[in-house]
Parts: sequence; structure tokens; C-alpha cells
Amino acid sequence: MAKSLKMFVSESAIKKEISTWSLKDCEDYLDKHKNDQKESSLMHKKISIVTNFFNAIKIATHTSGKERKKALENIPFEFLIKNAPNENIKDPPNKKLKSYQKNTGIYLWSLGYNVKRFLGAGCSAVVWGCEGNKVMRVACNNKYLGFIKINNAATEIDDAETIKNIIDSDPKNSHHLFNTKYIENNNKEKAIFEAELSTHGDLEKFKSTKDYNNKIENILQMATDSLKGLNVLHSNGYSHNDIKPDNILITDKTKKNGTSRINLKIADFGVMTNINKTYTIFTNRKFRAPDFWKLGKEAVAKRDIYSLGCIFIGLLMEDNNFSQNYQKLAKDLVSIGSEKFFQKYLQNNYQNIDDNSKNNIILFLETIIKMVQPSYKNRIEIAKALENIKNIKKNL
Ligand SMILES: Nc1ncnc2c1ncn2[C@@H]1O[C@H](COP(=O)(O)OP(=O)(O)OP(=O)(O)O)[C@@H](O)[C@H]1O
Ligand SMILES: [Mg+2]
Repeated sequence: MAKSLKMFVSESAIKKEISTWSLKDCEDYLDKHKNDQKESSLMHKKISIVTNFFNAIKIATHTSGKERKKALENIPFEFLIKNAPNENIKDPPNKKLKSYQKNTGIYLWSLGYNVKRFLGAGCSAVVWGCEGNKVMRVACNNKYLGFIKINNAATEIDDAETIKNIIDSDPKNSHHLFNTKYIENNNKEKAIFEAELSTHGDLEKFKSTKDYNNKIENILQMATDSLKGLNVLHSNGYSHNDIKPDNILITDKTKKNGTSRINLKIADFGVMTNINKTYTIFTNRKFRAPDFWKLGKEAVAKRDIYSLGCIFIGLLMEDNNFSQNYQKLAKDLVSIGSEKFFQKYLQNNYQNIDDNSKNNIILFLETIIKMVQPSYKNRIEIAKALENIKNIKKNL
């Protein structure tokens, strides 16, 4: 008994040591001891562990899916980080991946996915494009995946289930909610979700591309899509609490006449709450309502409306990455009114437009004023905002 316990302790110590080795270290060790196998049981154990680790990576590199996952089942994550082939898990242009973000790619690889490219990351998840047009979202905290517990993985799993139920029960009205499918978790510490590819990325990225068109008719369409998404969420009893441009994803939608248009979907339900639950969420600093800390169903729902109003101001502005202070702009809009706001902030961006388009922008600003009122009690209902926009569209 004592002997086997000793062996177990030594085995753990050996595994811990080898976890920090490179494949080359393994190779050198095996080469050096190729004739020593029978020297002692501990040495025998070490040789067999090094061989296992070394072979597992070799097998995993030449397989994928379940076969790779099985080969790596008992291999410490630290060893994978050091030795997994990661040619696709590299820094994308203009963005330096942090080590924990890279680790999520290696984690996906170890589960059998062939990772192709980094798509984006936030405070609680890293998203990777994988072979077969799969988009995988790994929910984690912002430390080291595999070593520090992933926060909220369990809640994110519940939230994904809730969104799926909402979409399933009302598919027609749920075109503007982004569906992510829960795939698996590891002791509720790591959660993996699969989603469709958002062809144009998130709204913040999209705004800086040449595909972004600031014509008022396009902006009204984007506003309608996002308000509809929020409407379905709220009518089902949930508030999003983190409405910001990088949580709105953009896909393509084929219209009945065969042409296509962009389609906005509300995404990232990481801090969603039941609308009746009275607790505060401290997120989304730039787009946060001034009375975001107020509790109660109406106040909670109207936080999201304020944030969306700020985004609508951003859609009209010449501001590629939503870098302005939108709380300040909202305050200014409410105090100086739509016409003066147009002259002060939007004139440059809309130099050669006709009177009708200008008029429609001013009318749209009138609705935004009602969305970004400082007190939630004065903010417009989603249905009313949608109706206003529908009426402006009639003038187009
Ligand atoms: N299906 C997708 N297709 C393309 N890009 C995506 C997709 N899902 C997410 N992304 C990108 O990854 C980023 C991070 O995703 P997500 O918002 O789900 O993470 P998060 O950690 O929960 O973010 P937050 O900091 O808002 O909590 C998004 O802003 C977007 O740029
Ligand atoms: Mg996000």
C-alpha cells in the first residue's frame, strides 16, 4: 500500500516535471536512456511517461476530431501549450493575442478542431474560425485557460440554452438574435459554443470597412434590425445589459428578390439577466445609461435602450471605431436638439445629401433623443421607436 502510494506521488512529480518539456527534450531523454529501460522501476516509469507524452502529440498532429481528442485525454495542458502545432493560432494583423487567448486555440485543437484563424475576443470569451466554416467560442476568464477557473461558464451555458429556446419558440421574430450552440464543458470550468460565421464581423469592425454605407436608409435598416432583436429578448423577460457595437454581429441575408443585404444580430449574452431580477451589472462603460444602477423591470429594460441609442448616434457619426464619448454626445443631443446636433456633429459626414435625406436624419435623431433620455422614465418603448423608424422609412 505504502509502496503504491509512493509510486503514485513520484508519478505525479514526474508528470509535472515533463509538462514543462519540449518535444526535443523528450526526444533527447529517450535517446539518452534507450538502453536503460530496466534499471529501476522509477526510471521505467519516467521513460514510459515521456514516451506517452511524446507519442500523444505525434498522433494528435496527424489526426483530428475524436481521434485527436482521445490521444490527448491524459496529457497535461501545460505540455500541450508548449508542444501543440500552432501555426494557425498566431497574431492577426493589428491585434496582439494575449497568451490566454492563444491557449483557447490550443484547447480547441486538443479537442479535435482544426483551428484556422482568430476572429475576436472579449472579457469572457475567445472566438476562433475552424475548418468546415465552424465558429467556436471558448468562454473563459481572462487569465490562463486550463489553470484558472473559467468564470461564468455555467451561467453562459444556461444563457445559450435560454436564447435557443427563445429562437425555437419564435423563429420568425428571432432573426436578430445570434444563436450559439452549447457544445461541451469541462467540469463547468471551460465551456465551448458553436455559432454561425458572422460574415462581416461585429459592428465596430464593420463600421471601419468599405462595406459600411452611411446612407440614412441603410442606417435605419440597421436600427430596425437591432431594435427587433432587443424587442424579442425583452418580451421574453430578459435584458442584455451589455449592448455595445462589438456585441452586435453582422451576417448577410438574402432578400426575396434574390439580392442580399446585411442583417444585424444581437450577440454575447454573457451578462444577460432576467428583467425582473433586481441587481446591477457593471458593464459597457462607454454606452452605459447614466441611471444604469436603478433597479426594477422598467429601469433594467431601459438600460439597453439607452445603449442602443448611443450606438445609433455612432452609426451617423464619422467615427470608424466608435471611439467617441457617447454618453457626452447623448447628453449634448438631448440638450441642443436634433437640428443643432446635425450642424455641430454630422454636417461633415453628410456634405452632399439632399434635403429629404437630411430631413430623415433629423427625424431619426428625434427618436434617438427619446432613447437616450437621462432618466429611464422618459425613455421611449422599443415598439414606439420601431414605429417611428417605420414612418421615416415611408419618406425615403
Ligand atoms: N460568430 C462569429 N463570427 C465572427 N466573429 C465573431 C463571432 N462571434 C464572436 N465574434 C467576434 O469575437 C468577439 C468576442 O465575442 P463575444 O462578444 O462573444 O466575447 P465576450 O468575451 O463575451 O465579449 P465581452 O467583452 O463583450 O463580454 C466579438 O466582438 C466578435 O468580434
Ligand atoms: Mg462581446
